[in-house]
Amino acid sequence: MTNSPRPIILSSMAALQLFSFFICSSVPDFAAALTRQYTFNIKYQNFTRLCHTRSLVTVNGQFPGPRLVAREGDRVLVTVVNHVAENITIHWHGVRQLTSGWADGPAYVTQCPIQTGQAYTYNFTITGQRGTLLWHAHLSWLRSSLYGPIIILPKLNESYPFKKPYKEIPILFGEWFNVDPEAVIAQALQTGAGPNVSDAYTINGLPGPLYNCSTKDTYKLKVKPGKTYLLRLINAALNDELFFSIANHTVTVVEADAVYVKPFDVDTLLISPGQTTNVLLKTKPHFPNATFFMLAGPYFSGQGTFDNSTTAGVLVYKHPSSNNHFPSLKPTLPPFNATAFVANFTMKFRSLASAKFPANVPQTVDRRFFFTVGLGTSPCPKNTTCQGPNNNTKFSASINNVSFVLPSLALLQSYFFGQSNGVFTSDFPQNPAAPFNYTGAPPNNTMVSNGTKTVVLTFNTSVELVLQGTSILGAESHPLHLHGFNFFVVGQGFGNYDPNKDPSTFNLADPVERNTAGVPAGGWIAIRFLADNPGVWFMHCHLDIHTSWGLRMAWIVLDGPQPNQKLPPPPSDLPKC
Ligand code: C2O
Repeated sequence: MTNSPRPIILSSMAALQLFSFFICSSVPDFAAALTRQYTFNIKYQNFTRLCHTRSLVTVNGQFPGPRLVAREGDRVLVTVVNHVAENITIHWHGVRQLTSGWADGPAYVTQCPIQTGQAYTYNFTITGQRGTLLWHAHLSWLRSSLYGPIIILPKLNESYPFKKPYKEIPILFGEWFNVDPEAVIAQALQTGAGPNVSDAYTINGLPGPLYNCSTKDTYKLKVKPGKTYLLRLINAALNDELFFSIANHTVTVVEADAVYVKPFDVDTLLISPGQTTNVLLKTKPHFPNATFFMLAGPYFSGQGTFDNSTTAGVLVYKHPSSNNHFPSLKPTLPPFNATAFVANFTMKFRSLASAKFPANVPQTVDRRFFFTVGLGTSPCPKNTTCQGPNNNTKFSASINNVSFVLPSLALLQSYFFGQSNGVFTSDFPQNPAAPFNYTGAPPNNTMVSNGTKTVVLTFNTSVELVLQGTSILGAESHPLHLHGFNFFVVGQGFGNYDPNKDPSTFNLADPVERNTAGVPAGGWIAIRFLADNPGVWFMHCHLDIHTSWGLRMAWIVLDGPQPNQKLPPPPSDLPKC
């Protein structure tokens, strides 16, 4: 990662003047909170990996993009200026965006894209979160090169609930394509076939020595013995869940998706696109006579092709005097289809649930939803041939058999101004229209329906949602991401969810709280969240190909009675479609 831009830190007085432009009902800890201002210039920059040079769409010419650093409670202003031909939006993945839905970023959901030559200032306050998140483009597959870390430090004078690390290091996983990923997804959507896969995985933008023409592009993590490092792991890959392991080292997981967890030790972990995991790495007490590979490779449970390669970085103990060539030790990653390993790993996560950081799990439920998630087919347009499944169809994906069609106007504006007509409907099905044996032999008809359907929730509704994977065109794991909220994963299992038996197994005391969780291949998860954030909130599989195929929907949360429970009007620079 190259040098990050220095944010302009406004003094409290300057911030006060700035704030006077906004209707500020409640700014906690006003004196301590800062406003941090960034400019993201979207521009092309050439990068060469695997001996292929491509012009990447970048932020400020950096790949991966710059770090966004803030403290809990700070206001963040990011002015995104679009200097490229593509339309752009940026999403602050996992930031709760309390009453700031206009700054969330998914294209055609909360905003129209920022067009060439235009700018938009994302304006939000980070409330009640600390840890690691990520920002990324939220339009088509532009995330492939537009992503970077969000680092939320505890408030001044507050500490971590674990030993203060000697150093903190972001580790971002990504995918490198030798060709333009925009061409890859355009072609896939046209032919109906699965997309071409990436050519490499990367660690902080570097594929590492296990690929051809790549040894010089290896991420090196230089450490001292006897220290504790905080690794901020971020999976920004487009389509792949990844295993990660460091040879001869165990790490301690302390945080997930900017929420502290009960610490646990692992040799190998899984991180899905959209997920972040903070781990403590304790280095060996003395200089070892070895260097240590850190590997990341795919977990893939579906059918079809995927990038089955491995990216490597190196953990190097920097000996002050010797330049010895030490042997490199390699960890062993699980096989790509290690679904049992994944289930075992995800079950280890528990909220810290301390007095200071309680797990506010909804104990009662106002509304229950049961959504199937999975693949399907859609018909091939007349007079064309398609390369999707069965006889000439296109791959599709859906929730409750609705493949979500993005509107051409943004949902949030249409909703706010009461102009939903022709843009969206509010009839997203609460349950599957035609129940079937979800994880058994798939039904004969695998065609999905299409629509821009939403669920409307009144403010403060306590929601329980069961996400049930299907086996249509192969059971596959789906890392589901909900915008605007964290949710608690109160239960999970394989096979079909049983509403009579399974609720008795729910953990309502210390379930993990996150913004992205995997629906197991051929299984289900049950999540709960409190709809306390007015706005329109996207929910989708964070494997971009599944999102592109329609595995997405939106929740509309109505305003509450109090002034601070209402969505304010849009900012004046909100882009127009
Ligand atoms: Cu990180 Cu809607 O995505």
